[in-house]
Amino acid sequence: MSKKLNLAVASLVLAVLGTGCVSRGNDPGWEYAPDMYYSKGYEPYNQGDSFTLNPHGMSMRTPVEGTVAVGKSDFHYSLPNTGEGYEAAATQVSAPAGIDQIDSRGKYMYEIYCSPCHGNTGNNDGGVFKKVSTLKPAWKGYTDDYIKNLPEGQIYHVLTYGKNNMGSHASVLKPVDRWRVVKYVKLLSQGGSSNAVASNTTTSDSAALAK
Ligand code: HEC
Repeated sequence: MSKKLNLAVASLVLAVLGTGCVSRGNDPGWEYAPDMYYSKGYEPYNQGDSFTLNPHGMSMRTPVEGTVAVGKSDFHYSLPNTGEGYEAAATQVSAPAGIDQIDSRGKYMYEIYCSPCHGNTGNNDGGVFKKVSTLKPAWKGYTDDYIKNLPEGQIYHVLTYGKNNMGSHASVLKPVDRWRVVKYVKLLSQGGSSNAVASNTTTSDSAALAK
């Protein structure tokens, strides 16, 4: 075969491949079993062709701004994530009645989310603080007067928003659990026994709050 012919074949192949790519564009191609790719169930924010009245074809609308879902009012926290908010939390935020001092779930949650830094008994000797000692706060541990005297509302505020090197725990602790952990911190600050059994099973949230 001549070189010229080789070149012609090669460029033809390239041209075919090239147009193949170009023509695809936004075309998703063939779907052999769309029912298996797109759930027909109503899922809160899935998008489908059938929901033409909602924005982006969503099956559910996002809640109206400023509204709180029924039964979730404790998620509403009005103080801002500022120095003033932190100060105000000292007097304006307090535990709902019925949160037990020694709720086993408080300890359970504490040992998952707080121990890595503050240590199981609040001595600031958790693995993270041991490894990165520059992270440690100025106070030595929970039994310091600083934590003993720290208003519960401010601890709640810090769990909600975080403070300096401590991140927010709002995404992992729902409000009632934040209070259980706050109570557990206070127990540790009194040198309280950490022998309470850590357990994920606890009085239901509504029962705890109704007491
Ligand atoms: C990544 C490590 C880390 C984790 C995890 C962590 N903390 Fe902290 N915490 C800190 C640091 C650092 C400070 C000091 C913040 C400052 O004052 O600069 C702090 C401060 C605090 C304070 C004092 C707040 C104040 O108002 O001065 C309390 C109380 C506290 N933590 C409790 C907790 C509890 C309860 C948890 C678990 C839900 C937790 N921390 C998880 C690092 C951590």
